[in-house]
Amino acid sequence: MKDINLSKKEIINLLLSENQEEIDKLFQLANQLAENLFGNKVFFRGLLEFSNICSKDCFYCGLRKSNKNLSRFLITEEEILSAAIWADQNGYGSITLQSGEINTASRLDLIKSIISQIKKHTKLGITLSLGELCKKTYQDLFELGAHRYLLRIETSSSSLYKKLHPKDHSFENRLQCLKDLQDIGYQTGTGVMIGLPFQTIKDLANDLLFFQKFDIDMIGMGPYLCHEDTPLAKTVSSFSKDKRFMLSLKMIALARVLLKDVNIAAATALQVLDAKGREKALQCGANVLMPIITPKKYRDHYMIYEDKPCTDETASQCQMCLKRRLKSAKKEIAYNEWGDPPHFFARTKKIKVGL
Ligand code: 5AD
Ligand code: SF4
Repeated sequence: MKDINLSKKEIINLLLSENQEEIDKLFQLANQLAENLFGNKVFFRGLLEFSNICSKDCFYCGLRKSNKNLSRFLITEEEILSAAIWADQNGYGSITLQSGEINTASRLDLIKSIISQIKKHTKLGITLSLGELCKKTYQDLFELGAHRYLLRIETSSSSLYKKLHPKDHSFENRLQCLKDLQDIGYQTGTGVMIGLPFQTIKDLANDLLFFQKFDIDMIGMGPYLCHEDTPLAKTVSSFSKDKRFMLSLKMIALARVLLKDVNIAAATALQVLDAKGREKALQCGANVLMPIITPKKYRDHYMIYEDKPCTDETASQCQMCLKRRLKSAKKEIAYNEWGDPPHFFARTKKIKVGL
């Protein structure tokens, strides 16, 4: 099964396919490949959305700086540390620190301090998702102990990227950031939104080939969801909600088939389009879940898209709910494991250390 490879034409045909038998075959193959690598284990990353303040103005995102209908927050260092300790004590293995993109000296000092504190008080693996920063900053954060970084390319098409962002947002800089992260030695993750206005099936096939060419270790991708308070809300997606959901599952399955030994997240956004969206993703190639551990009082304000699920729950309610969901998908939580992607070790010839 190792040698399966698909041409661009075959990828496009599978993305377009409405033949249920063919689709089921793809999903089964992807699930089998994931199970060969990880058994029925699913890695957890506690997702801590610690600030919704953002200096960017992406046309699709509810956190964009021009959205005045949002109250902005920054969680205190103590709250961050106590959420991290909770994740550690509950066996989550890893934490993802995510926020809007902001590059001030005080913010960077805070992040450095948080990483040091988490390293000191827990055994968690640390993933960062803080957007585009300079190489020196990425290096400093790596040296303090962060070892994974997620930076979605959003789309691998530079012309589509330009339609989705203001003029001063640079596709080339985002690519450079991904390269910098790989150079420094981060386990590097990226991803795209699926079913965006102006996006074509060919763009999505190219996204998958981009992940392959870029030797990406981790994938986080999900459906595009409209947010009323954004400029993109005026433009209708060419794909219905059902199509976007099915395309998202197919993209996950195809990523597994093409990239094999990477980590692939079952994004929360999938659950907006289908109540069992995340479980379905775990049955067609995904092997990572990111339970939200953001303190409840802030959750409503991290509205990247509308109808975001899990905002009424506490971290432990989320934990119970996910346990149930995993059981129904015949998967198990890999407690207390960092869950590093095997691809990283194959790519860098590094020896696996950590939990
Ligand atoms: N729908 C789905 N995903 C979105 N993101 C931002 N806005 C939306 C939206 N409207 C995703 C982007 C970003 C991540 C933090 O959230 O891919 O990288
Ligand atoms: Fe900010 Fe990221 Fe949203 Fe863009 S996608 S506005 S960078 S939080």
